[in-house]
Amino acid sequence: MAKRKRSRGALLEGVPVSEPPVRPGLVGPRRVVPRHIQRPVYARTGDPGPPISAPVRTPDEVVAMRRAGQLAAEVLLFAGKLVKPGIHTDQIDARVHEKIVRRGAYPSPLNYRGFPKSVCTSVNEVICHGIPDSRPLADGDIINIDVTVYIDGVHGDTSVTFEVGEVDEHSQMLVRETRNAMYAGIQAVRPGAPVHAIGRAIERHAQAHQLGVVRDFIGHGVGTEFHSSLQIPHYYDRRHATLLADAMTFTIEPMLTLGTPDMYLWDDEWTAVTTDQRRSAQFEHTLLCVYADQGAAGSGAEILTRTPAGEGAAEVYAR
Ligand code: MF3
Ligand code: CO
Ligand code: CO
Repeated sequence: MAKRKRSRGALLEGVPVSEPPVRPGLVGPRRVVPRHIQRPVYARTGDPGPPISAPVRTPDEVVAMRRAGQLAAEVLLFAGKLVKPGIHTDQIDARVHEKIVRRGAYPSPLNYRGFPKSVCTSVNEVICHGIPDSRPLADGDIINIDVTVYIDGVHGDTSVTFEVGEVDEHSQMLVRETRNAMYAGIQAVRPGAPVHAIGRAIERHAQAHQLGVVRDFIGHGVGTEFHSSLQIPHYYDRRHATLLADAMTFTIEPMLTLGTPDMYLWDDEWTAVTTDQRRSAQFEHTLLCVYADQGAAGSGAEILTRTPAGEGAAEVYAR
């Protein structure tokens, strides 16, 4: 008889549920965007309409995407400095909103399908799409801050999971290996590779560290639309056989969990949490698929969500 795989139950021994559970706080009023700032189509009604944009960018759009990506990266670096015990997630939203509009950009989440705030803040067992509210960060929390900006007609989308003060060892491992899983996915990008090569690399990394891979949310084409029709799962699925091509722009944004990757939504219809209350982490970059040249170490991905100096919050805040 084949050796039985160790059951998930045994693996989870000693992995704590996150206590106390995250609960909904008070959500403040919608923030105002100055009139002179160019708005995405959904800004007024909340409705982005059906996705219609191409998966590949024009040369002009590539130039704009570099700028949007750099701005998103700068805002995320700034957001990381705010992460301290005691700050309310809505205070992070306020500072991030202000920074984005000062730079002449629109905070993409604001009113996207009715989302009420300018950034997503997802704490502990919240997988993604947490709404900034009156909850103060506590020592030992982990928080994903997901920044998307719209400028020059395109979006740049990036996120990092930050540690608040001293976090437990399981959370440290979760954060570190989720970052590594994102980079494993990025390494799989090159023109001609199937989309499922990305998910395969991420899933393999997650399995090696006994982490769950969330299936309910996936990476996406991004450009003139916040979410285009291109889908990038973070798990292997051979049906996702679309070939990556030069000038495609999309995100890789794996959400990995200490326990089950299954989720439910809060009554706010946004906040996604793990069903077992164990923690989840996420990292996200916006990528441009390019032909690998000398020095690109074989990867055919240009990471758009970095500063001109090549800095990103994922590295700057790594412990
Ligand atoms: N930034 C998220 C992503 O990575 C999307 C947030 S949608 C929002 O795709 F409405 F919650 F902002
Ligand atoms: Co995204
Ligand atoms: Co995002």
